[in-house]
Amino acid sequence: MKKLTFITIITTFALSAGAFETPTMGWSSWNTYGVNINDSVIRSQADAMVKTGLAKIGYNHINIDDGFQGGRDEKTGQLLINRNRFPNGLKPIVDHIHKLGLKAGIYSDAGENTCGNYFDNDSLSVNVGLLGHEAQDCDLYFNQLGFDFIKVDYCGGQIPSSHKRYWLDTRERYEKIHQAMLATGRDDLRLNVCRWAYPGAWVYDVASSWRMSGDINCSWQRVREIIDENLYLSGFARNGHYNDMDMLEVGRTLTQTEDETHFGLWCMMSSPLLIGCDVTTLRPETFNLLSNPDLIAINQDVLGKQAYVVRADSTGGYTFARDIKERGGKERAVAFYNPTDSEIRLEAELSEFDLIGPAKVYDALHRKKMPDAKSTISVTLSPHATEIYTLKGKDRLMRTIYEAETAFLGKYQELHDPHFVGSAYHIRDPRLRGGVGVANAGVTADNDIVFEEVIIPSDGSYRVSIHYLPKKTSEFYISADDEQGYAISPTENGDDIMVGEIDFELNKGVHKIRLYSGDVMPVIDYITIEPKSTVNF
Ligand code: GAL
Repeated sequence: MKKLTFITIITTFALSAGAFETPTMGWSSWNTYGVNINDSVIRSQADAMVKTGLAKIGYNHINIDDGFQGGRDEKTGQLLINRNRFPNGLKPIVDHIHKLGLKAGIYSDAGENTCGNYFDNDSLSVNVGLLGHEAQDCDLYFNQLGFDFIKVDYCGGQIPSSHKRYWLDTRERYEKIHQAMLATGRDDLRLNVCRWAYPGAWVYDVASSWRMSGDINCSWQRVREIIDENLYLSGFARNGHYNDMDMLEVGRTLTQTEDETHFGLWCMMSSPLLIGCDVTTLRPETFNLLSNPDLIAINQDVLGKQAYVVRADSTGGYTFARDIKERGGKERAVAFYNPTDSEIRLEAELSEFDLIGPAKVYDALHRKKMPDAKSTISVTLSPHATEIYTLKGKDRLMRTIYEAETAFLGKYQELHDPHFVGSAYHIRDPRLRGGVGVANAGVTADNDIVFEEVIIPSDGSYRVSIHYLPKKTSEFYISADDEQGYAISPTENGDDIMVGEIDFELNKGVHKIRLYSGDVMPVIDYITIEPKSTVNF
């Protein structure tokens, strides 16, 4: 094996941020009220968002979830509103929300019936979904009533309704709904796809965010499961489009430590932040957490990044990192997370976070300055606890390791069997670095593995090493910036991780490294990229 040593400092350039939409913030009715919403609930929560000051610090959406519908007029197809819950309809509420300077959100389903009809016996939510009523309902919601946001659920798209059996095509449904939204003439609307899984790259053209998991509930187990499901989806939060980890259960019955982990990691992972508790009775510690400006600044950061896993530790803990403010800058946000039921200690080298010490350390969760870190940071975490720091290093190191599970996978999706539709997926195997890699890439050009932001500090010759599990398949290819691809011929050698190497001339700046093939690729573990002059033989 060749030994690689390298220390390359990024000091000479800063890359400007894109002008992205940041994750949606606000309040939503579902977690506390379910379908039992009404005029006074929505008004009083909207008023409380202003009174508490939460609205002013960015929570600017008031979203009405399932439960407002009152069936459909059979003759005209007009959607009706539940008059017991909303005697004056929805228009006065939307106007009230707008008068408060906030945005109003509504809910529907891609099929015929909403989830409330199936799971909450809400008989008036039958035939109120968007199926067959896309133009009519979008005109009602966005032009007549003036809503600014919509969450579109999918129960009616896949569950047999009382009289018809539907198994609709997800992509087709959401694209059609998006078209109907555009046809209203409004260009300021946000759509949330509630399909309970990352649906595929088509979603960037239709939605600001998509639910990546099934429903949250107010339990530690569910919060932990959702974080777990989102660990390796960081590559899919891009260009102002986000993995939605579901509405917040903060301020309800979780412990304060669990609330902190829940909120803190939703911020680190750039999830939309929709408060789900009763804001008229907020506890002071809940208010302090939800209004923490340092955590909100991470969530709303201009780069729109989702923190990626730096290390899956043998204790069961995780460390995460993400750039903030400036790609490749000296300042980063990092998290230390303990999902286990025992106390653990995590120790990380600053170099693991691509920083050179000494680093200034700021505890973003508890809002206090910490002693500078020379070269390591150690954190003791009680069960379920998380610490979130912003680090400002003396210098930034070039990132040399790019895990395949943090890449953008062109055809990745979670709706269908990946073998059946030919899409890459994340695979766990103890031989892989961090225990996770990417399987089943290749065959079609779009089923590729793309490291979208490889930051190169200065013009020069760089060696890219691709680490993969042994497998006898035909060649796969690597390219930089969509230029000429170079072949790697996979080989087998027992159980050892194999390494293929290619040299590239790269200019200072951001580059795209892509792996692709016309055949099924071996399981890709990670790539390293190092300046060639420092490769020792
Ligand atoms: C679920 C959805 C929840 C909530 C509920 C309403 O499918 O994931 O967030 O909207 O339906 O019935």
